[in-house]
Amino acid sequence: MQVKRFGVSLEEDLLNSLDELVKNNRFPNRSQAIRFLIKKNLVEDKWEGNEQVAGVIVLVYDHHKRDLQNKSTDVQHNFHDLILSVQHVHLDHNNCLETIAVKGKAQELTALANKLIALKGIKHGKLVMSAAG
Ligand code: NI
Repeated sequence: MQVKRFGVSLEEDLLNSLDELVKNNRFPNRSQAIRFLIKKNLVEDKWEGNEQVAGVIVLVYDHHKRDLQNKSTDVQHNFHDLILSVQHVHLDHNNCLETIAVKGKAQELTALANKLIALKGIKHGKLVMSAAG
């Protein structure tokens, strides 16, 4: 795609913030940082507009809590049309890490993630949404 150049005027403190962002994220230059911010904003608009998005739900839980695994499976069956794949990793003797790839309307994915994360015994849970395309 053709790249076009344009000038940007910024207050000094905003420019400093932009340079911080470049430094912290190791962007090669300011253009890459601005590109990142615009894309992030576009993706977040899709979430707010309840558009079709893709994402991942990450769950960490104690594998000895069998009841939790049953409940999690029940929830996943109820939302099977949103779930693309599930990966289960045995982190250590006690802990399991589950990454659930999902695709659907932003609000549906949020509802599914909230149900899973709210299950008793989940140590950590997070939904990461991205663009579907
Ligand atoms: Ni496990």
